Amino acid sequence: MDKKVTVIGAGNVGATAAQRLAEKELCDVVLIDIVEGVPQGKALDLTEAAPIEKHDAHIKGFNSYEASAGSDIVIITAGIPRKPGMSRDDLIGTNAGIVKNVTKQVAAFSPDAVIIIVSNPLDAMCHVAFEASGFPKSRVIGMAGVLDSARFRAFIAMELNVSVENTHAFVLGGHGDTMVPLPRYSTVAGIPITELLSKDRIDALVKRTASGGAEIVSLLKTGSAYYAPASAAVEMAEAILKDKKKILPCAAYLEGEYGINGLFIGVPVKLGAKGVEEIIQIKLTGEEQAALKKSADSVEELKAVLKKLGA
Ligand code: APR
Repeated sequence: MDKKVTVIGAGNVGATAAQRLAEKELCDVVLIDIVEGVPQGKALDLTEAAPIEKHDAHIKGFNSYEASAGSDIVIITAGIPRKPGMSRDDLIGTNAGIVKNVTKQVAAFSPDAVIIIVSNPLDAMCHVAFEASGFPKSRVIGMAGVLDSARFRAFIAMELNVSVENTHAFVLGGHGDTMVPLPRYSTVAGIPITELLSKDRIDALVKRTASGGAEIVSLLKTGSAYYAPASAAVEMAEAILKDKKKILPCAAYLEGEYGINGLFIGVPVKLGAKGVEEIIQIKLTGEEQAALKKSADSVEELKAVLKKLGA
């Protein structure tokens, strides 16, 4: 393949993302993990599936970063996932150190890459990677909105018994309890769901979306969601690798857009070869703007925690 993507963390999200990247023949994949044998073993296993899955992507696993050199994209999933009863924010102490260390190595070997952050708490980890990499804001992007809106879409499709392909949804804000699903901009075959569902039903779907990650954690008990998070990261990578100019909700660094300054938070962005090529500003109602502000305040609080941790 003429493109190369490195995935850091060969755990549930990382290995699933590697599988999807390869099976879509988007790129060659370098899989890196701190645990010896795991990235090598998973890469070999995926390679042995290739003849059956009919793809020619090369997948290789390593414990060091040399092989990642010159990557077009680096997807960072390294870190610990949450367990039942934990919020994403509880991971900050452990994951900030991991993401900082990993990003420094990634940036040294792939100075022109676009970094996609998956590790949680997402918006705070984007800040860590932004500072540790020294990359421009266009090349550090967080995966959250694509996942949260996919969850909202899945619930809308189940509720109305329609194809998921007919659904479209927008979720803004931080990747946490304060996320801001936008029913007015969420549609089925172009029809806003506000015309198809009662307020009570919409409120229920919005609530389920905001706690979508926790719902999976409480079922799995030993870790957090990974199929949908991996799909979301790969959709972002595909938009960048193919220079699609695709508008997707992602965590991006705002400098005044939506009245927010100096913060990573979920907004619609245009993704192309250069990473975030534009931040799309949509009109929000007073209520929506207030919800986004509340969400931004909670990301700001995590930034303060990072400062205390010296991350
Ligand atoms: N360098 C490289 N890999 C690391 C490092 C490090 N410093 N520290 C941990 N890892 C690896 C672990 O060895 C493990 O294989 O990261 C991987 C994480 O995988 P899982 O434990 O399976 O977690 P996963 O479900 O993939 O979630 C990873 O993404 O969605 C978020 O909240 C989630 O922060 C979590 C991350």
